[in-house]
Amino acid sequence: MKVLFPLLQVLLTSLVLSTIGSAAADDGDCSPAEGTCRVYNILGKPEEYTESTVPGVKLAVRRWTPDDVKSVVLFAHGGTYGAGFHSGYSDIMGKSFQEAGIAVISYDVAGSGYSDGLKDKNGNTLRNYFDSMDTLTNDFTKVLNDVRSQYPTKKVFAVGESFGCKILLAQIMKEQEQSKGSLADGYVFSGPVVQLLPEMLPPKPVIAVMSFIAKFFPMLTMPGTDFFSTFDLAFGDKAWAQTGRHDPFVIEAASIPPKLGMIISVLNSLKKLNDSLETIGVPFKIFVGENEGRVDVDAIKRLAKVAKSTDKDIEIVPGAYHQLFQDLPEVTQLVCRHIQEWILARS
Ligand SMILES: *[C@@H]1O[C@H](CO)[C@@H](O)[C@H](O)[C@H]1NC(C)=O
Repeated sequence: MKVLFPLLQVLLTSLVLSTIGSAAADDGDCSPAEGTCRVYNILGKPEEYTESTVPGVKLAVRRWTPDDVKSVVLFAHGGTYGAGFHSGYSDIMGKSFQEAGIAVISYDVAGSGYSDGLKDKNGNTLRNYFDSMDTLTNDFTKVLNDVRSQYPTKKVFAVGESFGCKILLAQIMKEQEQSKGSLADGYVFSGPVVQLLPEMLPPKPVIAVMSFIAKFFPMLTMPGTDFFSTFDLAFGDKAWAQTGRHDPFVIEAASIPPKLGMIISVLNSLKKLNDSLETIGVPFKIFVGENEGRVDVDAIKRLAKVAKSTDKDIEIVPGAYHQLFQDLPEVTQLVCRHIQEWILARS
């Protein structure tokens, strides 16, 4: 074990790094307060909360509601575990959809943003942590059902970005397995995590050993990672990178080492998805930036190709990066407009 642990920690560190960023930034020490860097406005604490499927955990909810609702979106934010993102980054997207007559509901996933975290066995709240992918998919299904009962006559679509899409894909697989599964009327994936970049994954035998250890030590923490040297290339608009760098939630997330059980749950779920991409049968559209560098684009294209869905599409967005809702204004507006068109054509 003594030899094994350092080895695992090196591998896990590179694995975790791969999920949170890609290129070096040299301008991270400016100050928004002194006006030396441009930042976007992130929304603060919301007023509305809903119950998670985990007892006692409340999830922060945001809404963008038009006067005349033509269709409804439940949004799954990305950058969740390790990156500190939350639904407060979605205002530009939310407002754009609201103007197009589409209501948007979003919530911070458990342990991130303004939502409660799960508790450890001593009752301490765990930030940027989940015990299993099931918790995340169950919460999504729960909120989806809530939204359906709030809008019984409207179609309800799921829109995800990055790791939020991984939650949606796992949710689809789980609900498809049940005879009366709760599925959205269509799914939009923006820069989806279908697979991590292959070069960032530990070799398969190492993953097998990690899985074994995780059964006994799920709360084993991995060392902290050099988070901010790799943050900026997710963003086509550098002001968004600066916004993240100065966000207390992002700084907090960077300081919390991930737990082995959580990482293994994600890896197992990614493997299961990879082995059964063809079973995805829901209507969907994928958007991926031409300059996508943080997720496996080949796996995204494979999803578009092999899924058994009869209503599926993929659009490569020229000049765009990973976070399509935090790209240059013209890129984000184009992506929003194309998603709205896809949704309204099916509403
Ligand atoms: C995913 O599936 C593809 C095609 O079956 C395979 O080539 C690839 O090695 C798999 N990737 C992982 C990480 O299992």
